[in-house]
Amino acid sequence: PPLIITIDGPGASGKSSVARRIAQALEVPYVSSGLLYRGVAYQVLRHGVDPDDETAILRLLEAHPVRLVPNTHGNRVLAGGEDLTPHLHTAEVDAVVSAVARHPRVRAYVNERLREVPPPFVVEGRDMGTAVFPHAPYKFYLTASPAVRARRRARERADDVAAIEKMLRLRDERDAKQSKPAEDAQVIDTSELTLDQVVGAIMRFLPA
Ligand code: ADP
Ligand code: CDP
Repeated sequence: PPLIITIDGPGASGKSSVARRIAQALEVPYVSSGLLYRGVAYQVLRHGVDPDDETAILRLLEAHPVRLVPNTHGNRVLAGGEDLTPHLHTAEVDAVVSAVARHPRVRAYVNERLREVPPPFVVEGRDMGTAVFPHAPYKFYLTASPAVRARRRARERADDVAAIEKMLRLRDERDAKQSKPAEDAQVIDTSELTLDQVVGAIMRFLPA
């Protein structure tokens, strides 16, 4: 089977950092599904589209398609010739992305973009091991307590820890439907682990 490694889990559980390091070790691209959802959410905000209006979002995506450029060291999201990436990790996008991502046709649009990527790759998100790549041979689901995740994210955002934890918990709730470990996923609680330890734990399951 094609080499696809899925890494799912809630916000700031370590998915993207871990996925990037595994991808670098294996010399394959790393693919961030969340960045695509963030790209859609950013377009929704910028064009003044109602996040609850699925049809309007699909119309927006037809007029302004977003595209993922995956590589080993980082991902970019483009719309037309424009690079949206620098605008995607903000409190504004955090606040609206789950509302945008709950629409089935938005999910279908993102999933289509993901399935265009030729394996091998490491892909991270919420439902990579369940809905999008159910036949992937290697699946992982990272967790960590909300407090630990909030402290991690606080090092990357201007907001204070309490506000960040509140937003993470709200997104956990809104994403709950599509964020569950696959039955055949290895679940790793990263609360007490360093990044190196998480990477090591995953590498042990992969072929040498
Ligand atoms: P996610 O992609 O799940 O949102 P990230 O990979 O962006 O998570 O991690 C969020 C932050 O936490 C990053 O700054 C990252 O370096 C840090 N981090 C991730 N995993 C760990 C860990 N096990 N120990 C300490 N810091 C971590
Ligand atoms: O890591 P963090 O949760 O901060 O961000 P992300 O992985 O970039 O995901 C941002 C948001 O996109 C999530 O809160 C979900 O609403 C949505 N998402 C999703 O629905 N399905 C995915 N496979 C990935 C992300």
